[in-house]
Amino acid sequence: MRTVRTALTAGVLGALVAGGLVGLSGTASAASTLGAAAAERGRYFGAAVAANHLGESDYVNTLNTEFNSVTPENEMKWEAVEPSPGSFSFASADRITNHARGRGMRIRGHTLVWHSQLPGWVSNLTGSAVRSAMVNHINQVMGHWRGQIHSWDVVNEAFQDGGSGARRDSVFQRQLGNGFIEEAFRAARAADPNAKLCYNDYNTDGVNAKSNAVFAMVQDFRNRGVPIDCVGFQSHFNSQSPVPGDYQQNLQRFANLGVDVQITELDIEGSGTTQANNYSRVVNACLAVSRCTGITVWGVTDKYSWRSGGTPLLFDGNYTKKPAYNAVLTALGGTPGGGGGGGGGATCTVSYQETQRWGDRFNGQVTVRAGGTAITSWVTTVTVRSPQRISATWNGTPSWDTSGNVMTMRPGTANLAAGATTSFGFTVLTNGNWTAPTLGSCTAA
Ligand code: G3I
Repeated sequence: MRTVRTALTAGVLGALVAGGLVGLSGTASAASTLGAAAAERGRYFGAAVAANHLGESDYVNTLNTEFNSVTPENEMKWEAVEPSPGSFSFASADRITNHARGRGMRIRGHTLVWHSQLPGWVSNLTGSAVRSAMVNHINQVMGHWRGQIHSWDVVNEAFQDGGSGARRDSVFQRQLGNGFIEEAFRAARAADPNAKLCYNDYNTDGVNAKSNAVFAMVQDFRNRGVPIDCVGFQSHFNSQSPVPGDYQQNLQRFANLGVDVQITELDIEGSGTTQANNYSRVVNACLAVSRCTGITVWGVTDKYSWRSGGTPLLFDGNYTKKPAYNAVLTALGGTPGGGGGGGGGATCTVSYQETQRWGDRFNGQVTVRAGGTAITSWVTTVTVRSPQRISATWNGTPSWDTSGNVMTMRPGTANLAAGATTSFGFTVLTNGNWTAPTLGSCTAA
Protein backbone atom coordinates (compact mmCIF):
# COMPACT_ATOMS: atom_id res chain seq x y z
CA MET A 1 0.00 0.00 0.00
CA ARG A 2 1.30 3.42 -0.90
CA THR A 3 1.75 6.08 1.76
CA VAL A 4 0.01 9.39 1.21
CA ARG A 5 2.58 12.15 1.20
CA THR A 6 2.78 15.73 2.20
CA ALA A 7 0.62 17.88 -0.01
CA LEU A 8 3.36 20.43 -0.68
CA THR A 9 5.70 18.56 -3.00
CA ALA A 10 9.34 19.40 -3.43
CA GLY A 11 8.70 20.75 -6.91
CA VAL A 12 5.98 23.11 -5.77
CA LEU A 13 8.19 24.34 -2.96
CA GLY A 14 10.99 24.94 -5.41
CA ALA A 15 8.67 27.15 -7.41
CA LEU A 16 7.65 29.06 -4.28
CA VAL A 17 11.28 29.68 -3.43
CA ALA A 18 11.93 30.95 -6.94
CA GLY A 19 9.03 33.34 -6.35
CA GLY A 20 10.52 34.48 -3.05
CA LEU A 21 7.65 33.13 -0.95
CA VAL A 22 9.60 30.87 1.37
CA GLY A 23 11.83 32.16 4.12
CA LEU A 24 15.44 31.01 4.11
CA SER A 25 15.93 30.48 7.81
CA GLY A 26 18.28 27.76 9.04
CA THR A 27 16.14 26.50 11.87
CA ALA A 28 14.71 23.00 12.13
CA SER A 29 11.38 22.67 10.39
CA ALA A 30 8.63 20.25 9.69
CA ALA A 31 9.83 19.83 6.11
CA SER A 32 9.68 16.12 5.44
CA THR A 33 11.26 15.92 2.00
CA LEU A 34 14.77 16.67 0.79
CA GLY A 35 13.68 19.35 -1.65
CA ALA A 36 11.45 21.14 0.83
CA ALA A 37 14.06 21.07 3.58
CA ALA A 38 16.79 22.28 1.20
CA ALA A 39 14.50 25.04 -0.06
CA GLU A 40 14.10 26.31 3.49
CA ARG A 41 17.88 26.63 3.57
CA GLY A 42 17.87 28.53 0.26
CA ARG A 43 19.19 25.60 -1.72
CA TYR A 44 18.00 23.01 -4.20
CA PHE A 45 18.27 19.27 -3.74
CA GLY A 46 18.44 17.40 -7.03
CA ALA A 47 18.96 13.99 -8.57
CA ALA A 48 20.44 12.69 -11.78
CA VAL A 49 17.58 11.25 -13.81
CA ALA A 50 17.51 8.76 -16.68
CA ALA A 51 14.71 9.16 -19.22
CA ASN A 52 14.22 5.44 -19.57
CA HIS A 53 13.09 5.14 -15.94
CA LEU A 54 10.38 7.77 -16.19
CA GLY A 55 7.81 5.06 -16.88
CA GLU A 56 8.44 3.42 -13.50
CA SER A 57 5.95 4.70 -10.97
CA ASP A 58 8.05 4.28 -7.81
CA TYR A 59 10.96 6.03 -9.53
CA VAL A 60 8.77 8.94 -10.61
CA ASN A 61 6.95 9.18 -7.28
CA THR A 62 10.23 9.32 -5.40
CA LEU A 63 11.65 11.90 -7.79
CA ASN A 64 8.55 14.09 -7.65
CA THR A 65 8.19 13.90 -3.90
CA GLU A 66 11.76 14.36 -2.78
CA PHE A 67 13.70 16.38 -5.34
CA ASN A 68 13.35 19.88 -6.73
CA SER A 69 16.11 19.77 -9.33
CA VAL A 70 17.09 17.28 -12.02
CA THR A 71 20.22 16.58 -14.05
CA PRO A 72 19.83 14.34 -17.10
CA GLU A 73 22.34 11.57 -16.39
CA ASN A 74 23.33 10.88 -20.02
CA GLU A 75 20.70 12.42 -22.28
CA MET A 76 22.31 15.84 -22.84
CA LYS A 77 25.79 14.51 -23.57
CA TRP A 78 27.28 15.11 -27.00
CA GLU A 79 26.84 11.54 -28.28
CA ALA A 80 23.18 11.69 -27.27
CA VAL A 81 22.23 15.10 -28.70
CA GLU A 82 24.50 15.40 -31.76
CA PRO A 83 25.41 11.87 -32.84
CA SER A 84 26.37 13.03 -36.33
CA PRO A 85 27.54 16.48 -37.48
CA GLY A 86 24.82 19.10 -37.27
CA SER A 87 22.11 16.49 -36.67
CA PHE A 88 20.53 17.11 -33.29
CA SER A 89 18.32 14.80 -31.30
CA PHE A 90 16.74 16.26 -28.18
CA ALA A 91 13.77 13.95 -27.63
CA SER A 92 15.22 11.86 -24.84
CA ALA A 93 16.49 14.84 -22.84
CA ASP A 94 13.21 16.66 -23.52
CA ARG A 95 11.35 13.90 -21.69
CA ILE A 96 13.30 14.86 -18.59
CA THR A 97 13.14 18.63 -19.03
CA ASN A 98 9.40 18.51 -19.74
CA HIS A 99 8.85 16.38 -16.66
CA ALA A 100 10.85 18.82 -14.54
CA ARG A 101 9.31 21.98 -15.93
CA GLY A 102 5.81 20.64 -15.42
CA ARG A 103 6.60 20.32 -11.72
CA GLY A 104 8.56 23.48 -11.07
CA MET A 105 11.87 21.65 -10.73
CA ARG A 106 15.15 23.25 -11.67
CA ILE A 107 17.24 21.70 -14.42
CA ARG A 108 21.03 21.36 -14.49
CA GLY A 109 22.47 20.91 -17.97
CA HIS A 110 25.14 18.19 -18.19
CA THR A 111 27.34 18.59 -20.20
CA LEU A 112 28.47 20.54 -23.28
CA VAL A 113 32.21 19.92 -23.75
CA TRP A 114 33.63 16.65 -22.41
CA HIS A 115 36.21 14.17 -23.67
CA SER A 116 33.90 11.23 -22.91
CA GLN A 117 30.63 10.12 -24.50
CA LEU A 118 31.85 12.12 -27.45
CA PRO A 119 30.95 10.80 -30.92
CA GLY A 120 33.79 9.58 -33.11
CA TRP A 121 33.21 12.27 -35.70
CA VAL A 122 34.24 14.96 -33.21
CA SER A 123 37.32 13.06 -32.05
CA ASN A 124 38.47 12.83 -35.66
CA LEU A 125 38.27 16.56 -36.40
CA THR A 126 41.41 18.67 -36.66
CA GLY A 127 42.36 22.32 -36.34
CA SER A 128 39.68 25.00 -36.46
CA ALA A 129 37.04 22.43 -37.40
CA VAL A 130 37.08 21.45 -33.71
CA ARG A 131 36.36 25.05 -32.74
CA SER A 132 33.49 25.32 -35.23
CA ALA A 133 31.98 22.05 -34.05
CA MET A 134 32.31 23.03 -30.38
CA VAL A 135 30.79 26.47 -30.78
CA ASN A 136 27.99 25.18 -33.00
CA HIS A 137 27.25 22.43 -30.48
CA ILE A 138 27.08 24.95 -27.63
CA ASN A 139 24.85 27.27 -29.64
CA GLN A 140 22.43 24.59 -30.76
CA VAL A 141 22.16 22.73 -27.48
CA MET A 142 21.97 25.76 -25.21
CA GLY A 143 19.68 27.42 -27.73
CA HIS A 144 17.25 24.51 -27.63
CA TRP A 145 16.74 24.93 -23.87
CA ARG A 146 17.45 28.66 -23.64
CA GLY A 147 15.90 30.09 -20.49
CA GLN A 148 15.09 26.66 -19.05
CA ILE A 149 18.41 25.55 -17.62
CA HIS A 150 19.45 26.85 -14.23
CA SER A 151 23.13 25.85 -14.52
CA TRP A 152 25.14 24.31 -17.34
CA ASP A 153 28.25 22.18 -16.94
CA VAL A 154 29.94 23.95 -19.83
CA VAL A 155 33.20 22.03 -19.59
CA ASN A 156 33.54 18.74 -17.74
CA GLU A 157 36.66 16.97 -16.43
CA ALA A 158 39.34 18.85 -18.39
CA PHE A 159 42.13 18.26 -15.86
CA GLN A 160 44.18 15.12 -15.26
CA ASP A 161 44.20 13.23 -12.00
CA GLY A 162 47.44 12.93 -10.10
CA GLY A 163 49.96 15.45 -8.96
CA SER A 164 50.70 17.36 -12.13
CA GLY A 165 47.65 19.61 -12.32
CA ALA A 166 47.98 19.25 -16.11
CA ARG A 167 45.18 19.33 -18.64
CA ARG A 168 43.65 16.05 -19.70
CA ASP A 169 44.30 14.94 -23.24
CA SER A 170 41.26 15.39 -25.51
CA VAL A 171 40.56 16.46 -29.05
CA PHE A 172 39.72 19.93 -27.68
CA GLN A 173 42.98 20.21 -25.75
CA ARG A 174 45.10 18.84 -28.61
CA GLN A 175 43.59 20.91 -31.37
CA LEU A 176 42.71 24.16 -29.59
CA GLY A 177 45.16 24.24 -26.68
CA ASN A 178 44.50 25.56 -23.17
CA GLY A 179 42.23 28.28 -24.55
CA PHE A 180 39.44 25.84 -25.42
CA ILE A 181 37.84 26.14 -21.98
CA GLU A 182 37.70 29.91 -22.17
CA GLU A 183 36.32 29.75 -25.71
CA ALA A 184 33.60 27.36 -24.58
CA PHE A 185 32.56 29.62 -21.69
CA ARG A 186 32.43 32.71 -23.90
CA ALA A 187 30.29 30.88 -26.45
CA ALA A 188 28.04 29.59 -23.68
CA ARG A 189 27.43 33.06 -22.23
CA ALA A 190 26.33 34.30 -25.63
CA ALA A 191 24.10 31.27 -26.24
CA ASP A 192 22.07 31.55 -23.00
CA PRO A 193 22.94 34.67 -21.01
CA ASN A 194 20.71 33.68 -18.06
CA ALA A 195 22.20 30.28 -17.37
CA LYS A 196 24.86 29.88 -14.71
CA LEU A 197 28.00 28.61 -16.38
CA CYS A 198 29.88 25.94 -14.43
CA TYR A 199 33.17 24.10 -14.66
CA ASN A 200 32.60 20.55 -13.30
CA ASP A 201 35.14 17.93 -12.20
CA TYR A 202 35.90 15.01 -9.84
CA ASN A 203 38.71 14.46 -7.36
CA THR A 204 38.70 18.20 -6.87
CA ASP A 205 36.65 17.95 -3.67
CA GLY A 206 39.56 18.59 -1.31
CA VAL A 207 42.62 20.78 -1.63
CA ASN A 208 45.01 18.88 -3.92
CA ALA A 209 47.07 19.40 -7.07
CA LYS A 210 44.08 18.92 -9.35
CA SER A 211 41.79 21.28 -7.44
CA ASN A 212 44.66 23.77 -7.21
CA ALA A 213 44.90 23.74 -11.01
CA VAL A 214 41.16 24.29 -11.37
CA PHE A 215 41.34 27.01 -8.72
CA ALA A 216 44.10 28.80 -10.66
CA MET A 217 42.01 28.64 -13.83
CA VAL A 218 38.89 30.03 -12.16
CA GLN A 219 40.95 32.77 -10.50
CA ASP A 220 42.44 33.67 -13.87
CA PHE A 221 38.98 33.70 -15.50
CA ARG A 222 37.63 35.97 -12.78
CA ASN A 223 40.62 38.32 -13.10
CA ARG A 224 40.26 38.56 -16.86
CA GLY A 225 36.49 38.71 -17.02
CA VAL A 226 36.03 35.33 -18.71
CA PRO A 227 32.41 34.39 -17.93
CA ILE A 228 32.20 31.71 -15.25
CA ASP A 229 29.55 31.56 -12.53
CA CYS A 230 30.08 28.36 -10.67
CA VAL A 231 32.24 25.34 -10.02
CA GLY A 232 30.74 21.88 -9.71
CA PHE A 233 32.27 19.35 -7.33
CA GLN A 234 31.15 15.92 -8.42
CA SER A 235 31.80 14.29 -5.04
CA HIS A 236 31.85 10.58 -5.93
CA PHE A 237 33.10 9.05 -2.71
CA ASN A 238 34.05 5.57 -1.54
CA SER A 239 36.69 4.00 0.69
CA GLN A 240 39.46 4.73 -1.84
CA SER A 241 38.25 8.29 -2.25
CA PRO A 242 36.64 9.35 1.04
CA VAL A 243 35.04 12.69 1.87
CA PRO A 244 38.13 14.90 2.31
CA GLY A 245 38.78 16.45 5.70
CA ASP A 246 39.11 19.86 4.04
CA TYR A 247 35.97 19.55 1.90
CA GLN A 248 34.27 22.64 3.36
CA GLN A 249 37.50 24.65 3.26
CA ASN A 250 37.94 23.77 -0.40
CA LEU A 251 34.36 24.78 -1.29
CA GLN A 252 34.88 28.01 0.59
CA ARG A 253 38.10 28.98 -1.18
CA PHE A 254 36.38 28.63 -4.56
CA ALA A 255 33.37 30.60 -3.29
CA ASN A 256 35.76 33.32 -2.19
CA LEU A 257 36.71 33.78 -5.85
CA GLY A 258 33.19 35.09 -6.41
CA VAL A 259 31.60 32.01 -7.96
CA ASP A 260 28.84 29.75 -6.71
CA VAL A 261 29.77 26.22 -5.80
CA GLN A 262 27.49 23.26 -6.36
CA ILE A 263 27.75 19.62 -5.35
CA THR A 264 26.83 18.08 -8.64
CA GLU A 265 27.08 14.27 -8.62
CA LEU A 266 27.10 13.21 -5.00
CA ASP A 267 27.20 9.54 -4.14
CA ILE A 268 28.95 7.80 -1.26
CA GLU A 269 29.45 4.05 -1.31
CA GLY A 270 28.67 2.13 1.86
CA SER A 271 25.71 1.57 4.11
CA GLY A 272 24.26 2.18 7.54
CA THR A 273 25.65 4.69 9.98
CA THR A 274 29.00 5.19 8.26
CA GLN A 275 27.38 6.14 4.99
CA ALA A 276 24.84 8.31 6.81
CA ASN A 277 27.57 10.17 8.69
CA ASN A 278 29.49 10.83 5.49
CA TYR A 279 26.37 12.23 3.83
CA SER A 280 25.81 14.50 6.85
CA ARG A 281 29.34 15.85 6.52
CA VAL A 282 28.80 16.74 2.89
CA VAL A 283 25.47 18.44 3.52
CA ASN A 284 26.84 20.34 6.50
CA ALA A 285 29.81 21.52 4.45
CA CYS A 286 27.49 22.89 1.78
CA LEU A 287 25.27 24.58 4.36
CA ALA A 288 28.32 26.21 5.94
CA VAL A 289 29.31 27.84 2.64
CA SER A 290 26.78 30.51 1.74
CA ARG A 291 27.61 30.29 -1.97
CA CYS A 292 27.01 26.54 -2.04
CA THR A 293 23.67 26.78 -3.79
CA GLY A 294 22.61 23.17 -4.11
CA ILE A 295 23.31 19.49 -3.99
CA THR A 296 22.57 16.86 -6.63
CA VAL A 297 22.83 13.16 -5.88
CA TRP A 298 23.89 11.01 -8.83
CA GLY A 299 20.70 8.97 -9.11
CA VAL A 300 17.42 8.26 -7.34
CA THR A 301 17.86 4.63 -6.32
CA ASP A 302 20.81 2.34 -5.65
CA LYS A 303 19.59 -0.12 -8.26
CA TYR A 304 20.22 2.26 -11.17
CA SER A 305 23.40 3.86 -9.85
CA TRP A 306 26.52 3.72 -12.05
CA ARG A 307 28.06 2.21 -8.91
CA SER A 308 25.08 0.08 -7.92
CA GLY A 309 27.29 -2.52 -6.23
CA GLY A 310 28.40 0.16 -3.78
CA THR A 311 24.82 1.13 -2.83
CA PRO A 312 25.85 4.82 -2.83
CA LEU A 313 22.50 6.63 -2.89
CA LEU A 314 19.73 7.67 -0.50
CA PHE A 315 17.04 5.17 -1.55
CA ASP A 316 17.63 1.46 -1.83
CA GLY A 317 16.54 -0.71 -4.73
CA ASN A 318 12.99 -0.83 -3.34
CA TYR A 319 12.86 2.96 -2.97
CA THR A 320 13.02 2.62 0.78
CA LYS A 321 14.69 5.50 2.58
CA LYS A 322 18.12 4.53 3.90
CA PRO A 323 19.77 5.83 7.07
CA ALA A 324 21.69 8.16 4.74
CA TYR A 325 18.39 9.69 3.67
CA ASN A 326 17.40 10.46 7.25
CA ALA A 327 20.85 11.91 7.88
CA VAL A 328 20.60 14.24 4.89
CA LEU A 329 17.08 15.35 5.75
CA THR A 330 18.08 15.98 9.36
CA ALA A 331 21.21 17.91 8.33
CA LEU A 332 19.02 20.07 6.09
CA GLY A 333 16.87 20.86 9.13
CA GLY A 334 13.94 18.71 8.07
CA THR A 335 12.13 16.12 10.11
CA PRO A 336 12.35 12.47 9.03
CA GLY A 337 9.29 10.33 9.46
CA GLY A 338 7.15 11.43 6.56
CA GLY A 339 5.79 9.05 3.97
CA GLY A 340 7.77 6.33 2.27
CA GLY A 341 9.88 6.99 -0.77
CA GLY A 342 7.63 5.14 -3.14
CA GLY A 343 7.82 1.54 -2.03
CA GLY A 344 5.86 1.22 1.16
CA GLY A 345 4.85 -2.02 2.87
CA ALA A 346 7.20 -4.78 3.91
CA THR A 347 10.49 -4.63 2.04
CA CYS A 348 14.05 -5.78 2.56
CA THR A 349 17.40 -5.52 0.83
CA VAL A 350 20.46 -7.76 0.81
CA SER A 351 24.16 -7.08 0.47
CA TYR A 352 27.13 -9.44 0.26
CA GLN A 353 30.57 -9.40 1.78
CA GLU A 354 33.39 -11.94 1.72
CA THR A 355 34.56 -12.27 5.33
CA GLN A 356 37.36 -14.81 5.18
CA ARG A 357 39.44 -16.68 2.63
CA TRP A 358 41.74 -19.64 3.24
CA GLY A 359 43.06 -22.73 1.44
CA ASP A 360 40.49 -23.77 -1.14
CA ARG A 361 37.45 -21.90 0.26
CA PHE A 362 35.98 -18.63 1.47
CA ASN A 363 33.26 -17.49 3.82
CA GLY A 364 30.51 -15.16 2.63
CA GLN A 365 28.12 -13.10 4.69
CA VAL A 366 24.78 -11.71 3.53
CA THR A 367 23.27 -8.81 5.42
CA VAL A 368 19.50 -8.55 5.26
CA ARG A 369 18.05 -5.12 6.00
CA ALA A 370 14.39 -4.37 6.64
CA GLY A 371 12.96 -1.43 4.69
CA GLY A 372 10.92 1.44 6.09
CA THR A 373 8.56 -0.80 8.10
CA ALA A 374 9.11 -3.75 10.43
CA ILE A 375 9.10 -7.18 8.79
CA THR A 376 8.24 -10.58 10.15
CA SER A 377 9.89 -12.77 7.52
CA TRP A 378 12.21 -12.63 4.54
CA VAL A 379 13.63 -14.87 1.86
CA THR A 380 16.52 -14.46 -0.57
CA THR A 381 18.81 -16.55 -2.76
CA VAL A 382 22.54 -17.04 -3.14
CA THR A 383 23.84 -18.46 -6.42
CA VAL A 384 27.32 -19.96 -6.72
CA ARG A 385 28.99 -21.01 -9.95
CA SER A 386 29.82 -24.62 -10.71
CA PRO A 387 32.14 -26.29 -9.72
CA GLN A 388 31.75 -24.23 -6.52
CA ARG A 389 29.76 -25.83 -3.71
CA ILE A 390 28.38 -24.38 -0.49
CA SER A 391 29.76 -26.65 2.23
CA ALA A 392 28.34 -25.03 5.38
CA THR A 393 25.79 -22.37 6.40
CA TRP A 394 24.88 -20.61 9.63
CA ASN A 395 22.16 -18.30 10.99
CA GLY A 396 19.53 -19.42 8.48
CA THR A 397 17.62 -22.33 7.02
CA PRO A 398 18.77 -23.22 3.50
CA SER A 399 17.10 -25.15 0.72
CA TRP A 400 18.55 -26.03 -2.69
CA ASP A 401 17.55 -26.19 -6.32
CA THR A 402 18.28 -29.31 -8.33
CA SER A 403 21.59 -27.96 -9.73
CA GLY A 404 22.89 -27.40 -6.21
CA ASN A 405 24.02 -23.93 -7.25
CA VAL A 406 21.09 -21.88 -5.99
CA MET A 407 20.55 -21.75 -2.27
CA THR A 408 17.32 -20.25 -0.98
CA MET A 409 17.79 -18.89 2.52
CA ARG A 410 15.13 -18.23 5.13
CA PRO A 411 15.71 -16.80 8.57
CA GLY A 412 15.99 -18.58 11.84
CA THR A 413 14.52 -15.58 13.67
CA ALA A 414 12.50 -13.34 11.41
CA ASN A 415 11.37 -10.20 13.20
CA LEU A 416 13.26 -7.09 12.13
CA ALA A 417 12.38 -3.51 13.05
CA ALA A 418 12.30 -0.89 10.29
CA GLY A 419 15.86 -0.42 8.99
CA ALA A 420 17.26 -3.19 11.22
CA THR A 421 19.64 -5.83 9.90
CA THR A 422 20.46 -9.46 10.41
CA SER A 423 22.95 -11.66 8.60
CA PHE A 424 23.62 -15.22 7.58
CA GLY A 425 26.80 -16.86 6.45
CA PHE A 426 28.13 -19.73 4.38
CA THR A 427 31.34 -21.39 3.23
CA VAL A 428 32.01 -21.78 -0.49
CA LEU A 429 34.26 -24.64 -1.53
CA THR A 430 35.79 -23.06 -4.63
CA ASN A 431 37.09 -26.08 -6.52
CA GLY A 432 39.32 -23.51 -8.24
CA ASN A 433 36.60 -20.93 -9.07
CA TRP A 434 36.92 -17.86 -6.83
CA THR A 435 34.03 -15.91 -8.37
CA ALA A 436 31.86 -14.16 -5.78
CA PRO A 437 28.31 -15.51 -5.46
CA THR A 438 25.38 -13.44 -6.71
CA LEU A 439 22.37 -12.53 -4.62
CA GLY A 440 18.75 -12.65 -5.65
CA SER A 441 16.33 -9.99 -4.55
CA CYS A 442 15.00 -9.98 -1.00
CA THR A 443 11.31 -10.57 -0.41
CA ALA A 444 9.77 -9.58 2.91
CA ALA A 445 6.45 -10.04 4.62
O1 G3I B 1 22.55 3.37 -23.92
C1 G3I B 1 23.50 2.32 -24.16
C2 G3I B 1 22.79 1.05 -24.53
O2 G3I B 1 22.11 1.24 -25.75
C3 G3I B 1 23.82 -0.07 -24.64
O3 G3I B 1 23.16 -1.29 -24.88
C4 G3I B 1 24.61 -0.18 -23.34
C5 G3I B 1 25.71 -1.24 -23.44
O4 G3I B 1 26.79 -0.96 -22.61
O5 G3I B 1 25.21 1.06 -23.07
C6 G3I B 1 24.29 2.11 -22.89
O6 G3I B 1 25.01 3.27 -22.62
C7 G3I B 1 25.54 3.39 -21.32
C8 G3I B 1 25.09 4.72 -20.77
O7 G3I B 1 25.68 4.94 -19.50
C9 G3I B 1 23.57 4.80 -20.60
O8 G3I B 1 23.14 3.86 -19.70
C10 G3I B 1 27.04 3.33 -21.39
O9 G3I B 1 27.47 2.05 -21.77
C11 G3I B 1 27.63 3.69 -20.06
O10 G3I B 1 29.05 3.81 -20.20
C12 G3I B 1 27.08 5.01 -19.56
O11 G3I B 1 27.63 5.28 -18.29
C13 G3I B 1 27.48 6.60 -17.85
C14 G3I B 1 28.85 7.21 -17.63
O12 G3I B 1 28.70 8.52 -17.13
C15 G3I B 1 29.65 7.27 -18.92
O13 G3I B 1 30.84 7.96 -18.73
C16 G3I B 1 26.72 6.58 -16.56
O14 G3I B 1 25.38 6.15 -16.81
C17 G3I B 1 26.70 7.97 -15.93
O15 G3I B 1 26.19 7.90 -14.62
C18 G3I B 1 28.11 8.51 -15.85
O16 G3I B 1 28.07 9.82 -15.35
C19 G3I B 1 29.32 10.46 -15.18
C20 G3I B 1 29.10 11.92 -15.41
O17 G3I B 1 28.51 12.14 -16.67
C21 G3I B 1 30.41 12.71 -15.28
N1 G3I B 1 31.06 12.44 -14.02
C22 G3I B 1 31.24 11.03 -13.69
C23 G3I B 1 29.92 10.29 -13.76
C24 G3I B 1 30.08 8.85 -13.33
O18 G3I B 1 30.90 8.13 -14.21
